[in-house]
Amino acid sequence: FWVALNSQQSSYLCVHQPCSPLVSNQCVDEPCVVLLPQGNPYMCNNECDASTPELAHPPELMFDFEGRHPSTFWQSATWKEYPKPLQVNITLSWSKTIELTDNIVITFESGRPDQMILEKSLDYGRTWQPYQYYATDCLDAFHMDPKSVKDLSQHTVLEIICTEEYSTGYTTNSKIIHFEIKDRFAFFAGPRLRNMASLYGQLDTTKKLRDFFTVTDLRIRLLRPAVGEIFVDELHLARYFYAISDIKVRGRCKCNLHATVCVYDNSKLSCECEHNTTGPDCGKCKKNYQGRPWSPGSYLPIPKGTANTYCECFGHSNRCSYIDLLNTVICVSCKHNTRGQHCELCRLGFFRNASAQLDDENVCIECYCNPLGSIHDRCNGSGFCECKTGTTGPKCDECLPGNSWHYGCQPNVCDNELLHCQNGGTCHNNARCLCPAAYTGILCEKPRCQEAGGCASGAGQRAPPRGCPALLLLGKKMCIYPFVFK
Ligand SMILES: *[C@@H]1O[C@H](CO)[C@@H](O)[C@H](O)[C@H]1NC(C)=O
Ligand SMILES: *[C@@H]1O[C@H](CO)[C@@H](O)[C@H](O)[C@H]1NC(C)=O
Ligand SMILES: *[C@@H]1O[C@H](CO)[C@@H](O)[C@H](O)[C@H]1NC(C)=O
Ligand SMILES: *[C@@H]1O[C@H](CO)[C@@H](O)[C@H](O)[C@H]1NC(C)=O
Repeated sequence: FWVALNSQQSSYLCVHQPCSPLVSNQCVDEPCVVLLPQGNPYMCNNECDASTPELAHPPELMFDFEGRHPSTFWQSATWKEYPKPLQVNITLSWSKTIELTDNIVITFESGRPDQMILEKSLDYGRTWQPYQYYATDCLDAFHMDPKSVKDLSQHTVLEIICTEEYSTGYTTNSKIIHFEIKDRFAFFAGPRLRNMASLYGQLDTTKKLRDFFTVTDLRIRLLRPAVGEIFVDELHLARYFYAISDIKVRGRCKCNLHATVCVYDNSKLSCECEHNTTGPDCGKCKKNYQGRPWSPGSYLPIPKGTANTYCECFGHSNRCSYIDLLNTVICVSCKHNTRGQHCELCRLGFFRNASAQLDDENVCIECYCNPLGSIHDRCNGSGFCECKTGTTGPKCDECLPGNSWHYGCQPNVCDNELLHCQNGGTCHNNARCLCPAAYTGILCEKPRCQEAGGCASGAGQRAPPRGCPALLLLGKKMCIYPFVFK
């Protein structure tokens, strides 16, 4: 990647030799005089000149091999122009989307700055967002309450905070500033990052979370150097500057999990896309491979993830979720009346449209089982419902012979075949015989009042006695007029 350095002064007038009474082994070669007792303990002489190679501290020294003694570092100009702010932007550009996998670590050779903003871009430097604010006094510098990553949680992990943890000036011997990726991962994967599957499950399903850890560029905005005391010592402004020996950014190319290799070629990073995908991040389907919509691969199952060809939701869902217990990925909230791990089945009450592809919105057809004729509202794979006794037809809306529809299929009481109404009765809706006045019984087979005792045999020929119902009710006898007029 390349580094752009913007600062107000173009030449580097800086000290050559780091000298630290706190980190004593860094000051072995040359005698070192601490000029100012309360000054920057890391620096004690100012033999530094950008135009002299041996005395220059160019930005490349932030990215060279570490472990040299004394260490090599970039150094800014000093704060000669105080009270004009001393500000420097350090921009790191990859020209490629990168997923951060570990803490960003910046090692200062000066005191850590009083005010600094780490910024990120996701669109190759067109727009920038703050990533984290750093200050000795967050409220004063940025009108923000100081927080540490440990104050966050799974739900607030995306919050942009201002931390005072790394800006203690000269009073501690720590030279390091972190942007804490791992502490943020730990909200999902546990304190020792043991449960990476849970983190990856979240990353798979939550774009905002994925994007949070993704950058194309980083910018370190150094806004105010370490001062160390309350007042800037205007007589010794050469004590105030920035110096950085190392910036570590660990990550991997974002290839949407469609590549296992990312190559550095022609000073450019690019994914070697597989699965018939293409684009700098394997973010689209190759020409002539657009039969299915593009989707990112899955981090799961760990360690290798999948191309997501199997966890295809056939366009019926755009969310997958990792189920820890089963170690598997499932589609969430299948639409278009589908269900199943990959939305590959039809919901109960629906059946598969044989002439539609699995990703067709019309793939599932409603069963429409007749609610009166069927046992339940489900049907088999060809749309046949399960019928009650006496009922038939794919939707259970027809009656078998000997049955007729009356709030569902009921066995016939009378018909024109075996169950004739007798004595001149007529069959009504196959449900009852309408009998002449003198007859009763299901098939009009009984002369009326036969059981009443008061009627002579052959009484069927006679008209029923007048007032019969009242009379017989008093005597607790039955007297039925089976005529029903509708
Ligand atoms: C750093 O970047 C910011 C945002 O683009 C800009 O406003 C500022 O002037 C830059 N500072 C320097 C010293 O170039
Ligand atoms: C990519 O396309 C080739 C050729 O059509 C096919 O054989 C292969 O299965 C595809 N790969 C994936 C992961 O879909
Ligand atoms: C079955 O799918 C085909 C193809 O998409 C569609 O034309 C047809 O209307 C669908 N049938 C039903 C009953 O929805
Ligand atoms: C559904 O049920 C019908 C009637 O029982 C049967 O003919 C058909 O083969 C069944 N279809 C399937 C896919 O089971």
